[in-house]
Amino acid sequence: MPAVETLERIAREISVCTKCALHESRKKAVTGEGPADAEIMFIGEGPGFHENEQGRPFVGASGKFLDQLLAQAGLERSDVFIANVVKCRPPANRDPQPEELLACNEYLEGQINAINPSIIVTLGRISMGKYVPGAKITSIHGQMQKIDGKFVIPMYHPAAALHQPALRPSILADFAKLPEQLNEARTALGRPIVEKKKITVPQKSEKPQQLSLF
Ligand code: URA
Ligand code: SF4
Repeated sequence: MPAVETLERIAREISVCTKCALHESRKKAVTGEGPADAEIMFIGEGPGFHENEQGRPFVGASGKFLDQLLAQAGLERSDVFIANVVKCRPPANRDPQPEELLACNEYLEGQINAINPSIIVTLGRISMGKYVPGAKITSIHGQMQKIDGKFVIPMYHPAAALHQPALRPSILADFAKLPEQLNEARTALGRPIVEKKKITVPQKSEKPQQLSLF
C-alpha cells in the first residue's frame, strides 16, 4: 500500500481510537503531519492545549520555537514529518503513562514503517525512552545512534529549552548538526544525496514582514 494511504488509514483509526484513557478528555487527536516520504521524522511527546484544540502537532509556543530550530538546520516544517508518542492530550499536560505509551505505540510504529525516514529525532525524555530507555538526555543529546537498524538522534524538547534558557545553545547546536548527520545516514543507508529543493537559510539581514497599513 502506498505510504500516503497507510498514513491516512492510521490517522482515521487514531481519530476514533479508545484504546487508552486519554481518549476520554481529548478534543482533537493529533495524528501527526508531514510528507509521506519525509527523510526526517520528529517524535514529540504528546499534544498540549493548543494542539488538542487544533488537531495539529506543535502549534503552540514550543511549535514556534521548533520552527526556528528547523530553520537552524535549513529546514522547513513541510520538509519533515512530526508525530508524537501519544496522539491524545494527557490531562493538564502530565507525562503520558506507560500503559498509554504502549497502547499508542502501534500507530507510531505504523507511521515510522510507512515513512521509513533516514533519521528519527526524538524530542524530550519520554520519546527518547522509546529507543534508549533509562538514558540521560544530558549525556546523549545530539548524538546519532543506530538502533534496530534506524538512525536515531535524541534531542531536548523545545519546551524544555524554552523554560531553561541554559539549554538553548545546546539545542541550537544539535539542530545545526542535522544536515551533516542526514548525509551520514543517507550514505550508510545507500540513499542518494540529492537535494529535493534548495535549502533556504534565512538571511540575518532579512527584513521582518511588513504589516499592511490601512
Ligand atoms: N509538545 C509535544 O511534545 N508535542 C506537540 O505536538 C506539542 C507540544
Ligand atoms: Fe488511542 Fe493513542 Fe489516543 Fe490512547 S492516546 S486513545 S492509544 S490514539
